[in-house]
Amino acid sequence: MAEHRVFTLSQVAQHKSQKSCWLVINGRVLDVTKFLEEHPGGEEVLLEVAGKDATKEFQDIGHSKAAQNLLFKYQVGVLQGYTIQETDINDVLFKESKKKEMSAFVIKDDGVSKSAAFLEFFVPLLVACSYFGYRFLSRSGQIA
Ligand code: HEM
Repeated sequence: MAEHRVFTLSQVAQHKSQKSCWLVINGRVLDVTKFLEEHPGGEEVLLEVAGKDATKEFQDIGHSKAAQNLLFKYQVGVLQGYTIQETDINDVLFKESKKKEMSAFVIKDDGVSKSAAFLEFFVPLLVACSYFGYRFLSRSGQIA
């Protein structure tokens, strides 16, 4: 694992302009100066949290997995007091979305939808069989 430079929050706070814009997300110190113009959410939001810990703001937006992976690209170090493991970002940031994926899967696979599928298939089949059965029996004269 690569060694990370350690910064204090006051060191990060010195980079809060368009010329040098740093922020902290999940203990990672990010230099987003070159990303300001590219950020799909605009540079203003990044400059608002420049020099600060923007973990909450970043998570509140519900950034995509692609956006979360981009964090690695801009990392220049870690915040003092944090020990970053490379799996941290998956553990912390993706936990919520994984939970959502799982519950969506469970809903899809629960008993209600199975019995609904059963009814959707067998009820029309039963009606069709009864109809043809009736026609067959009435033609062969067994039913008046
Ligand atoms: C290095 C840090 C950041 C990266 C790499 C990043 C990346 C992105 C990307 C790729 C998107 C497009 C949508 C998506 O894929 O989720 C996006 C949208 C956005 N981001 Fe960020 N972002 C960062 C930090 C922040 C921060 C700190 C804030 C808030 C203070 C923020 C606010 C927004 C907003 C408001 C949008 C637009 C959402 C929308 O239109 O639905 N971003 N960001």
